[in-house]
Amino acid sequence: MPPAIHLCLLHLNFLCLALHCSGLASLTAEFERWLPFFHPHSMKIREASHADLPTIAMLVSESNKDVAVRFGLNAENCPKHPSFYTENWVQADLARGETYFILEDQSEPIGCVAYECPRPGLAYLNRLSVLPAHRNKGAGARLVQHIVQHARSLSVQTISIGVIGEHTDLQRWYNKLGFKDEETRRFPHLPFSVKYMSHALPGG
Ligand SMILES: CC(C)(COP(=O)(O)OP(=O)(O)OC[C@H]1O[C@@H](n2cnc3c(N)ncnc32)[C@H](O)[C@@H]1OP(=O)(O)O)[C@@H](O)C(=O)NCCC(=O)NCCS
Repeated sequence: MPPAIHLCLLHLNFLCLALHCSGLASLTAEFERWLPFFHPHSMKIREASHADLPTIAMLVSESNKDVAVRFGLNAENCPKHPSFYTENWVQADLARGETYFILEDQSEPIGCVAYECPRPGLAYLNRLSVLPAHRNKGAGARLVQHIVQHARSLSVQTISIGVIGEHTDLQRWYNKLGFKDEETRRFPHLPFSVKYMSHALPGG
């Protein structure tokens, strides 16, 4: 990177710190959200391999623990919740043909997402996870956009997701990213309803 650009980025980082110290929290958050766009190489998404099993299990389980607490999910009432994710489960996902992508910030894994194609034209976005310490800086949106681009490159027409029906703020977040509300269903093995949402890809 040319020294002049490097100096500019340093200044931006110091500006964030200064805003933070002066108590301008919302302005700081807004600045931090845009910082990755000035640091094009600090965040990278890469396809995961078998060597990443422990990393993915950690990212998915750690990122979903607050969801489990919020909705009262535990090993008795929801043993398959992502907050309990293990390496064996990730291995089974890969064996089923699921693809995982890992988001790294300066080589540190901070989030992941899984992509599955159950039939031609349809894709599932699964297990979107960003570690709590790295949230609200655009990482989640970046992972979703990556899946949208990946699906588009494979001529997929619809991306489908299922989220906890009562998790309405998360649904509004997906709405902002282009997902439309679909049906809500109940399953006997789940202590919550599942809200389906879909993203249509024109020309897919
Ligand atoms: C959902 C999640 C991936 C978002 O990651 P993120 O990196 O914080 O997302 P972004 O920074 O791109 O977006 C931040 C925005 O989402 C909102 N947001 C962040 N986490 C949220 C959550 N758990 N529920 C609802 N909204 C959330 C923020 O308020 C912010 O809103 P704004 O854009 O109106 O300011 C992350 O919160 C997470 O891993 N949650 C736990 C696992 C989960 O619920 N995954 C989805 C399974 S379908």
